[in-house]
Amino acid sequence: MQNVVILISGTGSNMAAIVQAAEAGKWSERLGAQVAAVISNKPDAKGLLFAKERGIATAVVEHTAYPSREAFDAALAQKIDEYQPALVVLAGFMRILTPAFVAHYAGRLLNIHPSLLPAFPGLHTHQRAIDAGCRFAGATVHQVTADLDAGPIVEQAVVPILPGDDADTLAARVLTQEHIIYPRAVETFLQKGM
Ligand code: GRF
Repeated sequence: MQNVVILISGTGSNMAAIVQAAEAGKWSERLGAQVAAVISNKPDAKGLLFAKERGIATAVVEHTAYPSREAFDAALAQKIDEYQPALVVLAGFMRILTPAFVAHYAGRLLNIHPSLLPAFPGLHTHQRAIDAGCRFAGATVHQVTADLDAGPIVEQAVVPILPGDDADTLAARVLTQEHIIYPRAVETFLQKGM
C-alpha cells in the first residue's frame, strides 16, 4: 500500500478534498494507495475532526513544545515515518521546514501555494496580487525544495481577479480551484511518481 501522510495547520479543506477524491476514485483498489494519517502542528486544527470521523489516524506534533525548528522537524519526521509514506502532502501546513526535513522527503513532498508561482511566494498572496493590479490569480502545486515556495511546478489553476474583489473573495475563488488541482496532482504522483 502506498501511504499518503497529509500535514495541516487549520481548516484542512485541501486535505478533505484529497480524502474525498481518494474515496470517490477508489484509490485503494485502483492505485494501492490510502491517506494513512493526518498530522497537525496545532491541536485545535479543524481538519483533525474531519479525518477522525473518517477513521483516518491523526496526530498532533506541536511546534511550541520544541526548542528549535530542527527539534520540531525531527519529531515531526519521526511521527510521519511511522506511516512509511510514499508521499507527504503539505495542505495549509503553516511552518517553514528545515533543509534536513526537506532532504529526508526529497522527491515525495508536495505543497500547494495560493498564487501563480513564481509570483508571490510567502504570505498574503491574494492582497499582494490585488495590490499589484494583477488581472489573474491562482494556485500552484509544487515539489518542495529547500527554497520557500520555489520547487518545480506540478499543477496550476488560474482564476480571474474581478473588480471589487478583496483578499477574502479572491481567496475563496482560488480555494475552489485548489480543491480540484491538489487531489489531481496527488493522484498523478501515486500513478507514476514525480
Ligand atoms: C490554502 O489556500 C493553501 O493554499 C494555503 O493555505 C490555505 C489552506 O486551506 N497554503 P485549507 O487548510 O486546506 O482549508
